[in-house]
Amino acid sequence: MKIIGTGSALPEKEVSNDMLAGFLDTSDEWISTRTGIHTRRLLSSDNLGDLAITAAKAAIESAGVNVNDIDYIICSNVANNYVTPSLSTIIQGGLGDECSSPCMDLNGACAGFLYAIDIAEAFLATDRAKNILIVCAEEPTKFCDWHERETSVLFGDGAGAVVVTGGDNLLARRVTAKSLKDVIYYKRPLENTPYDRSSQDQKTLVMKGHDVFRMAVRSSMNDINTLLEEQHVNPDDVKYYLLHQANMRIIDSIREHLNQPVEKFPTNLQRYGNTSSASIPILIDELVRGGKIQEGDLLMLSAFGAGFVTGGALMRW
Ligand code: UT7
Repeated sequence: MKIIGTGSALPEKEVSNDMLAGFLDTSDEWISTRTGIHTRRLLSSDNLGDLAITAAKAAIESAGVNVNDIDYIICSNVANNYVTPSLSTIIQGGLGDECSSPCMDLNGACAGFLYAIDIAEAFLATDRAKNILIVCAEEPTKFCDWHERETSVLFGDGAGAVVVTGGDNLLARRVTAKSLKDVIYYKRPLENTPYDRSSQDQKTLVMKGHDVFRMAVRSSMNDINTLLEEQHVNPDDVKYYLLHQANMRIIDSIREHLNQPVEKFPTNLQRYGNTSSASIPILIDELVRGGKIQEGDLLMLSAFGAGFVTGGALMRW
């Protein structure tokens, strides 16, 4: 498998830490020192479907393929306005009538991009598809209680996309899951029925920050070390470690464990916050468009999220 095109799209509305401190008991100092985040983008008059379509079109254009060459769309999304139809079918509609590929959504939480890569690789390897569009589109800011400072300051909305095709650039990948319902969860209400009134049990995002932090560092280290060992790759030979953009302190901790220089860990969480599964493809798109990733570069991707799920990939650009 190889990535042949990238794209991304962010909401227009930029919200700084100071703006949050205007209505929450928080401060720029607390948010930036504890997380590294300075601003984030939030959906306001725009919507997630349009963002996903913009990112998808940019990825297809940069791949140099036609819309009718896309023969599968995989969308990574935790939740959005539409429970059904799937966001991937909404993206397909936005690409125009020439696109008639099958569509699927997957919920791999913040590791969704790595889960999508894993599935796409299997489809390509079994000739189920030739060009697959992966779009990660997320609006986690809409899961939060905006009266509550613990979670709302952490997230941002966004979409990142790639087009993948056959090739041997994906050297190894790894996905894991361990059912842990209580460390991070968000319940959406369904309709009550005469027989089940439990839908009143509505909750905004709940997170045990310390637990997630600890598990994030441990699981990412495990995925990265496993992939490096499996492929007999020295950590020094990796050009960039592209990690889920959740918290600068998590990234720093992983970097210190790996004993690698800061330049190898590009970040954008300062500007976008945690955009869930969109964070790595947005980062890749920015690096590619900025000329930072070159052909032949060795890249390590690693993400973790609610579930608890993790994913990693070692790829040659
Ligand atoms: O994609 C996965 C998503 N989740 C994550 O990646 C989260 C991982 N965890 C983290 O990033 C960190 O645990 C947090 C950033 C969520 C919290 O940082 P922390 O250093 O673990 O802070 P803490 O939870 O220990 O809180 C320290 C203090 C508490 O006050 P007291 O009890 O010491 O008086 C909190 O109430 O900071 C308080 N606090 C805040 N203060 C100002 C919590 N949130 C805020 C806030 N502004 N936004």
